Amino acid sequence: MASSSAPPPRDEPVSVSSGPPNPPKGTDWTFVNDKAIGSGSFGTVYMAIVAETGKQVAVKKVLQDKRFKNRELQIMKMLDHANVTVLHHNFYSEGDKPDETYLNLVMDFMPQTVYSTLRQHTKAKKSLPLPVVKLYAYQLFRSLAYIHSLGICHRDIKPQNLLVDPETGVLKLCDFGSAKILVRGEPNVAYICSRYYRAPELIFGATAYSVAIDVWSVGCVVAELLLGTPLFPGESGVDQLVEIIKVLGTPTLDEIQSMNPNYTEYKFPQVKAYPWPKVFRPRTPVEAIDLVSRLLRYSPEVRLKPLEACAAPLFDELRDDELKLPSGRPPPPLFDFKPQELFEYPPTLRKKLIPEWYSKRAAATTAAATAGGAAGGGGGGAAATTAPPAAPTPS
Ligand SMILES: Nc1ncnc2c1ncn2[C@@H]1O[C@H](COP(=O)(O)OP(=O)(O)OP(=O)(O)O)[C@@H](O)[C@H]1O
Ligand SMILES: [Mg+2]
Repeated sequence: MASSSAPPPRDEPVSVSSGPPNPPKGTDWTFVNDKAIGSGSFGTVYMAIVAETGKQVAVKKVLQDKRFKNRELQIMKMLDHANVTVLHHNFYSEGDKPDETYLNLVMDFMPQTVYSTLRQHTKAKKSLPLPVVKLYAYQLFRSLAYIHSLGICHRDIKPQNLLVDPETGVLKLCDFGSAKILVRGEPNVAYICSRYYRAPELIFGATAYSVAIDVWSVGCVVAELLLGTPLFPGESGVDQLVEIIKVLGTPTLDEIQSMNPNYTEYKFPQVKAYPWPKVFRPRTPVEAIDLVSRLLRYSPEVRLKPLEACAAPLFDELRDDELKLPSGRPPPPLFDFKPQELFEYPPTLRKKLIPEWYSKRAAATTAAATAGGAAGGGGGGAAATTAPPAAPTPS
């Protein structure tokens, strides 16, 4: 049926009924075997196979308010990184009711989430193997470093929004439905992020928060990868703060000020911090406990930055030349940092993040490509100090 290799058109309106979406008629791709795989508060996600290529895709179908630009779409169009879900195409379809339009976002399909993986392990009374915890946590920090380098704050990091493929060991951050480019001086709603993963400044009603709210959520997720269950399972908005105080102790006046300067009441029972090592199982590595304790701080500005976390001793094992996944396969790419990801970090940290063996191999690959490519340009192996060529930088 299809023949041309031209990419499917973007942003084309199409008339289909509700249920599994179909791409615009007249294009050279059709979905087969589509089935709903998840429905959240904003829409439904389908798994489908593109008949023409046999490629498995996920299609997220969300009701489109025609009065507004869809922020999720705008943000997804900016993304190009191995650790975030990347948009392949988008198209519109009509719903059952007149005037109802749906936006369909087509992206790579991933077989599991961190949530489903943890649930499986808990059911089997097992904990996630430590090498897998490290692999997933590291890639999660990379995804954060990348989106934050673009000014994007995710605002809903939780295990359900982290897609994983146990075969390849890849983790991808998904669901940009709450994401926003934060602009200093412009207020943002405090009522975002799922309860267990909400940073304390959000609970204190801050509207001038920063991307550090994502760092808090990631701290909660890393703790959960180690524990198997949520670290702060608050039963209500207020109880969420109680759960945090049980571990971190009562925040000081300075800490409250750093979370929300407009918060003037200070009426908390004085609770002492609970020692972090006691929060975790007896044989939890000290490096893991140390990392979590540097992420989960009341003051947003003292929380680690995502790539500082990647450089932590917990992840040294991932920088080993001989690293293999539990399945025996080689690990996914871990050091292909784009210049923009490293931009705000000092050279010492860059050196730590990119192992010498990797730089050497990258330099050798570049040299071979230059030699093979005959008329090579000048400049020598400048790129070798960072990483092999990365994908184009999104605007
Ligand atoms: N690319 C994908 N591959 C496989 N499954 C996916 C993919 N994208 C999303 N999903 C599944 O669909 C679920 C819902 O997707 P998403 O989080 O984007 O939607 P949502 O409606 O915003 O959800 P919620 O409101 O629950 O956060 C995810 O938790 C995940 O299980
Ligand atoms: Mg979601």
